[in-house]
Amino acid sequence: MDFQKPRYTPMSRRRRIYEGKAKVLYEGPEPGTLIQHFKDDATAFNAKKHEVIEGKGVLNNRISEYVFQHLNDIGVPTHFIRRLNMREQLIREVEIIPLEVVVRNVAAGSLSQRLGIEEGTQLPRSIIEFYYKNDKLNDPMVSEEHITAFGWASPQEIDDIMALAIRVNDFLSGLFLGVGIRLVDFKMETGRLWENDMMRIVVADEISPDSCRLWDIKSNEKLDKDRFRRDLGGLVEAYTEVAKRLGIMGEGERPQGSGPVLVKS
Ligand code: TMP
Repeated sequence: MDFQKPRYTPMSRRRRIYEGKAKVLYEGPEPGTLIQHFKDDATAFNAKKHEVIEGKGVLNNRISEYVFQHLNDIGVPTHFIRRLNMREQLIREVEIIPLEVVVRNVAAGSLSQRLGIEEGTQLPRSIIEFYYKNDKLNDPMVSEEHITAFGWASPQEIDDIMALAIRVNDFLSGLFLGVGIRLVDFKMETGRLWENDMMRIVVADEISPDSCRLWDIKSNEKLDKDRFRRDLGGLVEAYTEVAKRLGIMGEGERPQGSGPVLVKS
């Protein structure tokens, strides 16, 4: 397959494969590929809360590209091939495993609520949790027993998913620590990728401030989607700050990706 010279299809003629809350998947230019398009929609509490936040999709596309490219580079397999434009990336088509894999380093969110642990408490070790991806059921937490009994993943696949989750957590923790950000927790998804007769589990979906809790090391300021969930405001500013610290977006670059940009002489 030649990924260098994709045949671009105008948006209107592309076949839409799937539309989620924050992304759309289109048929890709080659068999076995898809185009992942990042929308500006923000939802929380299973889409009970919804807003369009201009620039969010562009920022998540860039930040997720950065994370997935680095994961590929260190040998953590992912679905990511390359970014195509401000809102889209070329990915490998995988069979999504219907689990949200959450890794936690610091207590926050639903863990704090469920177990009565104050937000910000360092956990004794990283904790991996599984949630069954099912909007009708509100993505309930499940155990390995449920996952194997209902056939969502085999015991070997669960081992592979947990090994991937630990590697991603180690990589992300170091990456963010280096730019003054604490990785409190994050969610990742995985998929089955077939190559000839071989199948392996790869990291899929996105890893962005929509799916992580990121706190400034010094001020504990939230630089993630909790700004939207908790009505704190300043979401685009926070995501832009993450992008800038990672060296993704230069000073003065606009996440909207349209309109004139002031050029300093
Ligand atoms: P939680 O504390 O609400 O369970 O969230 C744990 C992590 O997972 C947090 O980084 C936010 C992320 N997350 C998602 O990406 N999607 C979701 O639907 C939920 C509930 C959480």
